[in-house]
Amino acid sequence: MQRVAVLTSGGDAPGMNACIRAIVRCASVKGLEVVGIKRGFSGLIAREAVELGPREVSNILQSGGTFLGTSRCAEMFTAEGRQRALQFLEEQRVDGLLALGGDGTFRGAAALADEGSIKVLGVPATIDNDVYGTDFSIGFDTAINTALESIDRIRDTAQSLERLFFVEVMGRTRGFIALHTGLATGADEILIPEIEEDIEELCQSLRRGYKLGKKSLIVLVAEGGTPGRTQEIAREVGRKTGYDYRVCILGHVQRGGSPTARDRILASKLGLAAVEALLEGKNKQMVGEVGGQLILIPLEETWQRRKEFDAGLLDLLKLLAT
Ligand code: F6P
Repeated sequence: MQRVAVLTSGGDAPGMNACIRAIVRCASVKGLEVVGIKRGFSGLIAREAVELGPREVSNILQSGGTFLGTSRCAEMFTAEGRQRALQFLEEQRVDGLLALGGDGTFRGAAALADEGSIKVLGVPATIDNDVYGTDFSIGFDTAINTALESIDRIRDTAQSLERLFFVEVMGRTRGFIALHTGLATGADEILIPEIEEDIEELCQSLRRGYKLGKKSLIVLVAEGGTPGRTQEIAREVGRKTGYDYRVCILGHVQRGGSPTARDRILASKLGLAAVEALLEGKNKQMVGEVGGQLILIPLEETWQRRKEFDAGLLDLLKLLAT
């Protein structure tokens, strides 16, 4: 292996730049050339690449987003699109591809490995933390800290005006962001896709909260595949209880910003692990960190297996909300 390509795909995540930097510098130390593909799989198909050496990745460790750009690329779902992508990789004389993203990214990368002669390695980078095979994905820690900062601010005004707030966080179809920020911000109630919702029970819990003397109440809602769904939930609760309420949808602010130390460190470790795995001849694997240990798992498992959420965290959240 002499030359590898790196791309970021899907939703950007803070720490992607830190990981690209680690990949480029580790690869360079090990004698590999690196080419960066712009705008994810779209750039691969549109033939947009840039040579990356150690100095090209200076000063990006601390920046959010991805300096290579990213995309959600529909053409990768077509055999023709993938052929064009493979052709470009061949012209670039690339024999390994490192793909940073979530399960959609890994499906695309695995298809390239199946249909071409390229070896691919995945690195989990998504704020949703919904990738099987790693305790945390790059970007999750920053996103929950960003959400936490906003929710702390909401608590200030909620407490002052003695109000009920519904705050919606991202997470696609999973509740990891909601669960972790909920515990860290002392949310009074939480709605996540992993647990069946019962609006009547939620209303009773809110009534109980006021009876217990709580001045403000925060209900944290995971977007659950339907961004904005919190408006309807809040309306229903308002109708049933008669409580005055406000809704705040945090949205894309959760995706931006400088990565936390934890995300930078994870990104750096996974970047090195991915380069080493490619050099060892590994193919169609994802690097992850489980229980503090770096691991490799087959790419297919990242979308075929479901990542469990920590039910103990939910129990603790409820216990502490009394
Ligand atoms: O996967 C990251 C994520 O931010 C999800 O939490 C969210 O559902 C989705 O991307 C939003 O995607 P887009 O920016 O394309 O609207």
